[in-house]
Amino acid sequence: MRFQEDTVLKWMSLVRKHPDALEAFWPSQVQSKTWLCEVMGEYLAQEGSSGWYEPQSCIIFGSWYGVLADMLEIPKTICVDIDPKYLEWCNTPDLNWKAKDFHLSNKHYPTEQCSLDDYVYSEDLPNPDVVINTICEHITQAQYDKWYDNIPEGTYVIIQGNNDFSHKDHIRANNSLEEFLNNNHAIHTIYQGQLEYEGPWDHKNDRPTYFTRYMAITKKGKYVGEDIGNIK
Ligand SMILES: C[S@@+](CC[C@H](N)C(=O)[O-])C[C@H]1O[C@@H](n2cnc3c(N)ncnc32)[C@H](O)[C@@H]1O
Repeated sequence: MRFQEDTVLKWMSLVRKHPDALEAFWPSQVQSKTWLCEVMGEYLAQEGSSGWYEPQSCIIFGSWYGVLADMLEIPKTICVDIDPKYLEWCNTPDLNWKAKDFHLSNKHYPTEQCSLDDYVYSEDLPNPDVVINTICEHITQAQYDKWYDNIPEGTYVIIQGNNDFSHKDHIRANNSLEEFLNNNHAIHTIYQGQLEYEGPWDHKNDRPTYFTRYMAITKKGKYVGEDIGNIK
């Protein structure tokens, strides 16, 4: 993971064009994605080869404005989101932008507009190395179950959720890491962890709010009935 000049310039361009993208740059949002990038590299390396694990293909579900895709820099990345507005940014080069050659070759992604549970693994990328879902709190249990069932066997699955029930869009927050793991079928994990973060200011009581984000990495199908040994 790198924050290159090009990436920062691209993000500034994003915020100028879509001011609501500022929401993606709260410290807690950026930290949760840094956490994901670091854990993925470290723990999947432990599992497979030595050194840092660098997947070659990835599908990001609930990609939003593609900030995580920009941070991961996985060569073949597909961004999936239900809202076309976000995907337009992920997919469309800003031709007025000075560094448009870099922008075109490295920082735009194939996209698929659908609800994550309706995604079809096509010839385009039938067996991605990794699938990522950082919107576990935004979807129903039925949507999650269907999405999970569709993931090809052997794929690394990285999920994040949180315990923030106060947000109107959070329809499936969890009370604990254990509940998060159970509800998301993360029974045999390569990694599991939690991170406290600061939420929106509580104006009524004039004080900060704190929540916990949860993350797990599993491998679809592989570990049923096995002891994988390196659970954190
Ligand atoms: C607030 S944003 C992302 C929040 C999350 N904590 C993160 O950083 O990834 C939620 C995103 O999920 C997308 N989304 C919500 N429901 C979805 C669904 N059923 N399928 C695909 N994307 C969905 C929204 O359009 C939006 O881009």
